Amino acid sequence: MKLIDLYRNRKAENPKRILVTSALPYANGSIHIGHLTSTYLPADIFVRYHRLKKNNVVYVCATDEHGTPIEISAKKANLKPEEFVKRYRKEHAKDFKDIDISFDIFHHTHSEENKKLAEHFFKKAQEKGSIYTKKVDLMYCPKCTRYLPDRYLKGTCPKCAAEDQYGDSCEKCGATYQTGELIDAYCAVCHAGPEKRTQEHYFFKLTQYEKQLKKWLTTNRHIQKDVKNYVLNWIKEGLKDWDITRTGPYFGFLIPGEKNKYFYVWLDAPIGYVSSTVKWAKMNKENWEDFWHDKNTDIYHFIGKDIIYFHFLFWPALLMAADFNLPTNIPTRGYLTVNRDKMSKSRGTFILLREYLNRFPGDYLRYFLTSVTSNNTTDTDFSYNEFQVKVNNDLSDTFGNFVHRTLTFTVNNFDSEIPSSGKMSKDDKLFDSKINNLAKEVGALIEEVELKKALETIMEFARECNRYFNINQPWKTVKDNKAKAGTTLYLSVKAVCMLSMVLEPFIPSISKEIQSTLGIKNTAWGKISMKPGMKIKSPKPLVVKITDKDIAEDPFSALDLRVAKILSIKDHPDADKLYVLNIDLGDEKRQLVAGLREHIKKEDLEKKNVVIIANLEYAKLRGIESQGMLLAADNGPDVAIVSIDDAKPGENVSAEGIAKKPITGFKFNDFLKIEMTVTKKGNIAYKDTILKTESGKALIADIGEGAKIR
Ligand code: 2FM
Ligand code: ZN
Repeated sequence: MKLIDLYRNRKAENPKRILVTSALPYANGSIHIGHLTSTYLPADIFVRYHRLKKNNVVYVCATDEHGTPIEISAKKANLKPEEFVKRYRKEHAKDFKDIDISFDIFHHTHSEENKKLAEHFFKKAQEKGSIYTKKVDLMYCPKCTRYLPDRYLKGTCPKCAAEDQYGDSCEKCGATYQTGELIDAYCAVCHAGPEKRTQEHYFFKLTQYEKQLKKWLTTNRHIQKDVKNYVLNWIKEGLKDWDITRTGPYFGFLIPGEKNKYFYVWLDAPIGYVSSTVKWAKMNKENWEDFWHDKNTDIYHFIGKDIIYFHFLFWPALLMAADFNLPTNIPTRGYLTVNRDKMSKSRGTFILLREYLNRFPGDYLRYFLTSVTSNNTTDTDFSYNEFQVKVNNDLSDTFGNFVHRTLTFTVNNFDSEIPSSGKMSKDDKLFDSKINNLAKEVGALIEEVELKKALETIMEFARECNRYFNINQPWKTVKDNKAKAGTTLYLSVKAVCMLSMVLEPFIPSISKEIQSTLGIKNTAWGKISMKPGMKIKSPKPLVVKITDKDIAEDPFSALDLRVAKILSIKDHPDADKLYVLNIDLGDEKRQLVAGLREHIKKEDLEKKNVVIIANLEYAKLRGIESQGMLLAADNGPDVAIVSIDDAKPGENVSAEGIAKKPITGFKFNDFLKIEMTVTKKGNIAYKDTILKTESGKALIADIGEGAKIR
């Protein structure tokens, strides 16, 4: 090929340059399926599509490592913040990998690159006259000896009067404000009333960018309408300058020239998008400035609706101040509810990504969440019941079934060889044109981030495939008109090939499995790479149906069983069957009331390690509060306590294979439904599983086989 042709080809292909980011997860907690829904999954699908289109797309993310909560958590864990954040960095990276989130880089904000850039942004803003200092009233907790920023100060929202809101923003109305503005403030850690103290802080002049922000918002064609209106309304109500200072103890970057003043985490967090690009470019010998300064780049930030203010106002204004490219689009999703309720630890509806991954394949969740998440800020609901229905109906019965019957038929009747197209009928041609058009149709929707619609289009096509197969009845024609059966199978395999490609961004593992069966490598969007004569492998089942048993939560998982040491015992003053016990639960002491007086002597209880239900709803027994319940074994006439020789107070007790997901306020009636019995060896079993402590020791009840725990 001549050089000029090469050049022409390149120009004709004209790969787009695209930078995609997902909101940076705090290195202060585990990833849950809500994070996945709003941010990582949609971005990953978008990126995988553009990779298949052979566009120059880069997907960056990082852990968000600064701020007061992380500084406090690290202190609690007895670690340096640098060490503390590393743990989560590792955990997050593994979680993301296991659900096929395909970052090109997963960096972190407490990095050299980010420090340099934060200082650069600050300097550029100073040069534009966008930084000034001002004395501010701050809240200081004399008990905790620290200033109380953001989340450590709670009180009533000055905008909408919602109670128990944080110091920096209101979860009810979404407004952000300065800490001093909160009404009836209190320290969230110790509940003491804070003192006012005055300090000099740096401010970013957001008001200076009002016109530019408005122009950007109104002229940008991509930004979601629902968010745009929301933000324009904020501008209309009047912007406020932004306090970007936090005082030590803090984990962050010192403000240049200061000794104990740091950049607020939300200043350097989005700059993490840039510094991650810098790091990626260094590692891949690319130029990061192409992405942030060259106008021929599209930048997409995927976020959840809780951080709209930061991404639609502060961040673009910072980019304007530093003369960087502005975002092309900021796809913003709503919250994830579970069983139509806010995710909650106490109701046992807080689903960590790792917990999900321990139960089902990642692709099933990717499919489900995409199929229920719209391209706007309305909330999405997850429930294991809906999940089961969708996976079984769509992935298994519609899609999986078509793929499986097509490939098995080819293996069994055509010696595993893709037949030739033969002479196509009018209907065959119509089906063929549907196959050929699918990629374009789906691609256009993905480019608009209409991922749910894209998936619906694909599923509608899969239904069409099944209809085509049924109408043409290859199991009959193969006997008397093999050429016609060949045409049917040729087109069906072609459809399978197309399906595996358009589904690759959504369910990459399943798609790759199909491609490996077909013997296809290096897929490209819209290109059919199967040909008649190609040999295929025997297909493996793609999607295993989810049974009712698979999704049933074991009631045992809601129990919080723990080792407790009995410290002292008294008789209940008003009941002759009851004792009042004081126990040590590791990091707390509690009082229990137990009906053991007729059965067990005080001496036989003292200093013993027993097992208690630590999350049982507190109850008053004859006027004395019982803060939990001790486990005892009962065979009718006799009662024995469940004890354990060598264990630490507070240690977890669990049954192997049942994830512990304690809820608060466990009801006594629900406890009665859980059957635990004493084994031959005198241990305690739940459904044939011996209960053990964290350190692997079994519990003991000296009463004989078959006694019931109560
Ligand atoms: O809200 C959060 O979880 C933040 N860690 C998101 C940061 S996004 C970006 F700006 F860094
Ligand atoms: Zn305090």
